[in-house]
Amino acid sequence: MKPVTLRTERLTLDQPRLDDIDLVVDYCQDPIFETYMLTPWPYERVHAETFIGTVVPMRWTDDVEYTWALRFDGNFLGLIGFRVGANDIGFWLGAPHRGHGYMPEATGAVADFAFARSERPLHWECIPGNLASVSVARKAGFTWLGEGPSLYPDRRGAEALAWRGSLRPTDSRDPKPGWPV
Ligand SMILES: CC(C)(COP(=O)(O)OP(=O)(O)OC[C@H]1O[C@@H](n2cnc3c(N)ncnc32)[C@H](O)[C@@H]1OP(=O)(O)O)[C@@H](O)C(=O)NCCC(=O)NCCS
Repeated sequence: MKPVTLRTERLTLDQPRLDDIDLVVDYCQDPIFETYMLTPWPYERVHAETFIGTVVPMRWTDDVEYTWALRFDGNFLGLIGFRVGANDIGFWLGAPHRGHGYMPEATGAVADFAFARSERPLHWECIPGNLASVSVARKAGFTWLGEGPSLYPDRRGAEALAWRGSLRPTDSRDPKPGWPV
């Protein structure tokens, strides 16, 4: 499909652009990405150029993954992606933009988008210990499913464990009990 723009109270979610590449490269140097993300590490400019310039538009066209840039007042904050096959989300923010509740807000908009297309439960998971990601899923109304097999292999290609959560279209978006934080 053609890229779709989403709007929330504070944010615009639109297609990542070539002029976002400098900030993507900068933000993906954060050492926390080595621990809690599956983005390439070390992260080099060519990774962002390929991802933003080729992979993101191709996956929109092929209905494989929809990736949005989060913007506040036009400024690039980070990315959120919805993977169609797994019906799951992934996200990150540049370090200067964390702690303002932007990602729970963006997650709500992406959940609305997903549920307009399908009634399948939306899946969230993180590498065990990623309490900031846990907090996003909790605030967005997901139900804690506990630790179990990850959908994705780890950086070495091995099977991995994940902390997992699920949001159904009929769920309220209020935080549910049972989360580790
Ligand atoms: C996970 C992430 C997207 C959260 O987005 P956010 O918009 O900052 O979310 P929130 O503002 O709701 O804050 C979530 C938690 O981050 C932590 N946090 C708050 N301020 C922070 C800051 N300035 N810097 C880092 N973490 C902060 C807190 O634990 C907070 O939880 P709390 O509100 O229950 O105390 C962001 O921390 C991030 O990009 N992390 C690195 C990438 C990553 O781990 N992505 C998820 C992979 S599954």
